[in-house]
Amino acid sequence: MCGIVGYIGKQKASPILINGLMRLEYRGYDSAGISTIEPEGLVVMKDKGRVKNLYDLDGINDLKGTIGIAHTRWATHGKPSKENAHPHQDNSKLFSVVHNGIIENYNELRKFLTDKGYKFYSDTDTEVVPNLIHYYFSKDDEKDIKMRLLKAIKATCADLKGSFALEIICKDLPDNMIVVRKDSPLVIGKGDGENYISSDIPAILSFTRNFYLLNDLEYVFLSRDSAEFYDKDLNKIDKQIQSIEWDASSSEKNGYEDFMLKEIYEQPTAIRETIGAKFNENSKCEFDELNFSKEYLSSVNKIYIVACGTAMHAGLAGKNVFEKLCRIPTEVDVASEFRYRDPLIDDKTLCIFVSQSGETADTIAALKLSKERGAKTISISNVIGSSITREADYSMYTHAGPEIAVASTKAHTSQIVLLIMIAIYFAEVLGKDSKELLELKKELLELPKQIEQCLTLADTVKEFAHKIYQEKDVFFIGRGVDEVVAKEASLKLKEISYIHSESYPAGELKHGAIALIEKGITVVGIMTDPTLVEKTVSNLQEVITRGAKTLIVTNQKIDKSMFDVVVEVPETNPFLSPVLSVIPLQLLAYYISKEKGLDVDKPRNLAKSVTVE
Ligand code: G6P
Repeated sequence: MCGIVGYIGKQKASPILINGLMRLEYRGYDSAGISTIEPEGLVVMKDKGRVKNLYDLDGINDLKGTIGIAHTRWATHGKPSKENAHPHQDNSKLFSVVHNGIIENYNELRKFLTDKGYKFYSDTDTEVVPNLIHYYFSKDDEKDIKMRLLKAIKATCADLKGSFALEIICKDLPDNMIVVRKDSPLVIGKGDGENYISSDIPAILSFTRNFYLLNDLEYVFLSRDSAEFYDKDLNKIDKQIQSIEWDASSSEKNGYEDFMLKEIYEQPTAIRETIGAKFNENSKCEFDELNFSKEYLSSVNKIYIVACGTAMHAGLAGKNVFEKLCRIPTEVDVASEFRYRDPLIDDKTLCIFVSQSGETADTIAALKLSKERGAKTISISNVIGSSITREADYSMYTHAGPEIAVASTKAHTSQIVLLIMIAIYFAEVLGKDSKELLELKKELLELPKQIEQCLTLADTVKEFAHKIYQEKDVFFIGRGVDEVVAKEASLKLKEISYIHSESYPAGELKHGAIALIEKGITVVGIMTDPTLVEKTVSNLQEVITRGAKTLIVTNQKIDKSMFDVVVEVPETNPFLSPVLSVIPLQLLAYYISKEKGLDVDKPRNLAKSVTVE
C-alpha cells in the first residue's frame, strides 16, 4: 500500500526522501514521486514504476531543497501512471501534497471544486486535497500566513470523508511543512535540527529512534528544529517523544539474501523477546498491560479473536488454547466479515484483535464496532503506537522487531505465543489447574531452542522445493491444530510462489477435493497430534494410492517408508506445535519462490499493510 516519507532539515532533501521510499518498497507500490521546496518554488518529480527510476528523471540531481515530501503509490483510484502518482498540486502550484488512504467523497468534492473553476489532471481521489486547501486558503483574509494555512487544512480535513495521512508543503511558507492524519499511519522522527516524517517507522529508523506518535486529527506544524502540535480545534498541545527499541540494523538484510529468509531465522529471538520476563517456570504469567479480576473473567461469555490473513491464522491457533485452558467459548473471525455480520457482542464479550502492522483497515473497523457494542478490547500488534493500539482498551505487543517481507513469518509465530500467554494468564486468574499450566510454561520456554532445531531442516526442505517448484497445485492437510498450520502453509505458498494451493481438514478431503488428486500432485501432511496421527495417515494413504507425492511434517513416530519425504520437528505440547511445524513450511514456500526466480519479499499484487477496506 502507499507509503509516505518527508524531511525538513539542513541536508539536501531529495536523497533522503528517495532512500526512505526505497525502505518502503516492501509495502507494494506502482509509482513514486517527490516534491521539494526550491528557490524558484515547489518542484514535483514523479514517475510510474520503481523508486530507483526517480534517479533517471531529468533535473533530479539539481534539486537543492532541504524540505520535501515523498510517496509510493498503490493504485486505488486511477491506473498506475505518472499523472496519478503523488505528489499532487493545486492549480496554482502553491501547495504540494502526498496522501495515504482513501477520500470516499472525492467525486462530490471534485464537482464542488470544478464548479468553482478548478481543473483536474489526474484520476485520483487525492487531487481534491491541494485544491480544497487552495480554495479555503485563498478566501481567508487572516494575516498570519501560518494560521491561515492551518485553518485551510483544518477546513479541508473537515470536508474529507474516509482516511488520510497528509504531508503538505506550501511555496509561501518555504521553511515549514504541515502534516495531519486520520485512520492512516504517520509518525514524526526527531533528529538534531531536523525532522523526519513517515508512514512506517523502519523507513526512518536509520536517522532516529525518537518518535512523536500522532492521534487522529492532530495537526503538526514543522520547522527544522521544532514540531508544534495542535488538536482538532487548532489549540496548541504538548506531545511526548517516545523511543523505539528497534535499531536500524533490524530493518537491514544483514547478509541474508532476502528479508523473508532473515525473518524466518529471527524467529527464535522474536519468540524469546515476546516471552521476555513475563513469567518463568515457577512464576505466574504477568502482564503490566492487563489487570483482569477473577470476577470479570468468570463473567466473560465469549472471546472473539478477529484479524486478517496470517494474523487470523495465529488466532485460530490461539482459539483452542482459550477454550481448553479457560473454558470460555472462543470464535475466530476474518475482520472483513466480522464487521458486517452483526456479531453477537455485549459487555460480557471480550474481543482480541491481532495485527502485525496495527494498521489493517478492516481489523481497526471491527475493533471500533466491538467497542461501540460494549465489548472489552485487546489489541496485539508488533508496531508501537500503531492505530489499533490506540483504539483498544488494552494494547499488547509482540516483540518480533520490524517485519519487512510481505509474507509474515516471525510476527505470526510471535502472535501465537502471545495469544497462548494471554490464555495462560486468564487461566491462572481463573484458578485453573496449575500443574497443566506449569507444564505448558516450561514447554513455552523451550520453543526458541526448538525453533533453532527446525531451522536445521532447511536443506531437506530446499531439496523437496527443487523437486516440486514447477507444479501447478499443492494440497496441505491436517487435523486439529495441524489443520491451522495447513491453512497458513498454503497461504504462504500461494502468496510468494503463485502456485495454486489449498488446505483441508484431512478427513474432509475425500468429500470433494480428492477428485483433483492424480499422479504427481503434491500433498503435504502435518501430523503432530498423537490422538489424530493414525487418522491422518489413513487420509494420506488415500492420496498416495491415487499417485500423490507426499511431504510430511511430524513430531510422531510414524512409518516413514510410505512417504516421499518426512521432516521431523521437535515434540512439544500440542498447543505449541503450530509454532514449530509451520517453520519447515515457511521455508518450503521460500525455497519454491527462489527456485522460480520470483521476488520473495515483494510478491505481486500484495501489500504488507492493507490500509484500505
Ligand atoms: C496483508 C499481508 C499479510 C498479513 C495481512 C494482515 O494481507 O500481506 O501478510 O497477514 O495483511 O496484516 P496485519 O498487519 O493486520 O497483521
